[in-house]
Amino acid sequence: MRVLVTGGAGYIGSHAVRELINEGHSVTVLDDLSKGHEEAVDPRATLIRGSTANADLLRQRLHADQIEAVMHFAANIEVGESVLDPARYYRNNFVNTLTLLEAMVSAGVKRLVFSSTAAVYGNPEERPIDELHRSHPINPYGRTKMMAELAIEDFCHAYGMSATILRYFNVAGASSDATIGEDHEPESHLIPRILRAARDDSEVKIFGTDYDTADGTCIRDYVHVVDLAQAHVLALGQLREGACQVYNIGSENGFSVREVIAACQRVVGKKLKVIEDLRRPGDPSVLVASSRRIREDLGWRARYPEIRTIVQHAWHWHSTHPLGYRGKIDLVPQENSY
Ligand SMILES: NC(=O)c1ccc[n+]([C@@H]2O[C@H](COP(=O)([O-])OP(=O)(O)OC[C@H]3O[C@@H](n4cnc5c(N)ncnc54)[C@H](O)[C@@H]3O)[C@@H](O)[C@H]2O)c1
Repeated sequence: MRVLVTGGAGYIGSHAVRELINEGHSVTVLDDLSKGHEEAVDPRATLIRGSTANADLLRQRLHADQIEAVMHFAANIEVGESVLDPARYYRNNFVNTLTLLEAMVSAGVKRLVFSSTAAVYGNPEERPIDELHRSHPINPYGRTKMMAELAIEDFCHAYGMSATILRYFNVAGASSDATIGEDHEPESHLIPRILRAARDDSEVKIFGTDYDTADGTCIRDYVHVVDLAQAHVLALGQLREGACQVYNIGSENGFSVREVIAACQRVVGKKLKVIEDLRRPGDPSVLVASSRRIREDLGWRARYPEIRTIVQHAWHWHSTHPLGYRGKIDLVPQENSY
């Protein structure tokens, strides 16, 4: 299939681009490089530097490249920033998604796979969270993604589009050859923050040690970025005509912050400096996904379900790219334990 990947120079999009091409699809990446990296884009893909805000450009690319399907990753992703600057999030994550959907309708492109998030659920009322859980996002980021989901659902009903919405929990890891990986600025995700601290010999902060969990720290569910990328390719191949499907993707296995730090320490082979801080507002104590629906409907299986493998791949990437895409060094990390 000929696929347009928005945000294909970003962390998850770049892994999806590689998986798509490996599976025989041809890919056009549309990325404004506001957060992404040209070097992350597979050289076998065509990279167009541009924004989903640009309706003319979207229509032109959809026609010129005879696009048959879209994977839509382009978005702003920082929860804290979305609280401080909601306009930016409503504009980019919702309005620009609408622009993309309209361009798809006018170009007759009917297939879509959309990146959504566990943030649409808000504070969990059940564990694990399945797709029938109430959607009640508690921050603008989650709300903009929920609004995009609603628009997609309505476009499927009204214009005969087929869409799959994937709601991810915590994504981590890197390609197993460490050629592409996570390079966010700022970095707010736990595993890269711990690994940066390990590399720089700095401190790792734990926000809250008095949660109602076995060791008092928050529990989260991690999925390997390559498994997630494969889920996108699988979803693309099994879109149901005129239907809008929603799937969670997670590992169904929660790890506490202390357990993740311990896993990182084992992989990097040293004890980290840990500082215990107060809770951050809005952090639920446990967030774990039920991925049963995607396993049963699409046959998705995680190839790298172990937290150890996720951390190993992330460490291989971070230790060989201490400056992210701006700089690579030849250092093969050793797997140690202390
Ligand atoms: N990283 C996670 O843990 C996580 C979890 C849940 C959901 N998601 C979702 O997955 C998607 C990708 O996340 P990521 O971690 O790869 O983020 P990322 O910032 O690495 O990638 C986003 C990419 O989109 C590009 N972009 C942003 N706005 C654009 C626009 N208007 N036009 C064109 N390009 C634009 C950026 O330059 C960047 O390359 C997002 O939609 C995010 O909401 C991510």
